[in-house]
Amino acid sequence: MKRKVTKAIFPVAGLGTRFLPATKSIPKEIMTLVDRPLIQYAIDEARAAGIKEFIFVTSRGKSALEDYFDCAPELESSLRKSGKDELLEMLRSTNMDSGAIAYLRQHKALGLGHAVWCARRMIGNEPFAVILPDDVIAAEKPCLQQMLEAYQETGGCMVAAMEVPPEKASSYGVLDVKDDMGAMVSVKGMVEKPTAGTAPSNLAVIGRYILTPKVLQNLNRMKGGAGGEIQLTDAIAEEIAAERPVYGYRFRGQRFDCGSKAGFLQATVAFGLGREDLREEFGAYLRDMMSVQKAAE
Ligand code: G1P
Repeated sequence: MKRKVTKAIFPVAGLGTRFLPATKSIPKEIMTLVDRPLIQYAIDEARAAGIKEFIFVTSRGKSALEDYFDCAPELESSLRKSGKDELLEMLRSTNMDSGAIAYLRQHKALGLGHAVWCARRMIGNEPFAVILPDDVIAAEKPCLQQMLEAYQETGGCMVAAMEVPPEKASSYGVLDVKDDMGAMVSVKGMVEKPTAGTAPSNLAVIGRYILTPKVLQNLNRMKGGAGGEIQLTDAIAEEIAAERPVYGYRFRGQRFDCGSKAGFLQATVAFGLGREDLREEFGAYLRDMMSVQKAAE
């Protein structure tokens, strides 16, 4: 039997303080990587994996996100009149079908676990995906699709995983590995933001999850964890304690931390160079920069 996952939660309630002043008036998820808002990369990845229902957990000041996914009839008719069919097609591909997208608010910033819990009634009793749009993953086969294929074999809970330098481990949820099977590991513990030197491994959780509805039940009982916030990591770790399977999946692809300025800039360069229409001009500019820098050394 095929294990179907058709719903995804996108937690987008964060204030985006690292990108002030830009985020004073625009949500962080609308900031553009080349010419598409961050959130579009997350939506495209979810669609490629067969997700049909998109649930956004938002907060005050995020209405630009709702507008972005709406139709833009005036813009469309102006593009049609001027024969700009390609642009029209691209614009239409960003519209979401009526009823496919839902927004609900997290009224208090109580953490990622709490944000996911806010969507519990929309999820009901089926497995679901969570995508953190800050983590942008460039991959030949989109990351969530890779995970869903692996999940067909395993069931249970699965998180995307990536090796990080030991000194960075305290910025992540970290896996305590039971069996390492290569692309997949089974997990015997998970720690959110371990204090320096205490991480059980250097295998970090990256923002893609496939979760059972049991995790939402665990969140019902949750109190504050690391940083005083209700942590998704702790709710998944409870599954391990209840002897239900949790896996880490080492995806193939490159992850960019677009929640940080340096990561956003790196993603901009990588995605810019990945674009056929920009590669030549942008690549030449970067090569020039490098040679000027070398000459100065
Ligand atoms: C969140 C999760 C953490 C995970 C990280 C990946 O943390 O809580 O477990 O490793 O995303 O980006 P945040 O970056 O929101 O602090």
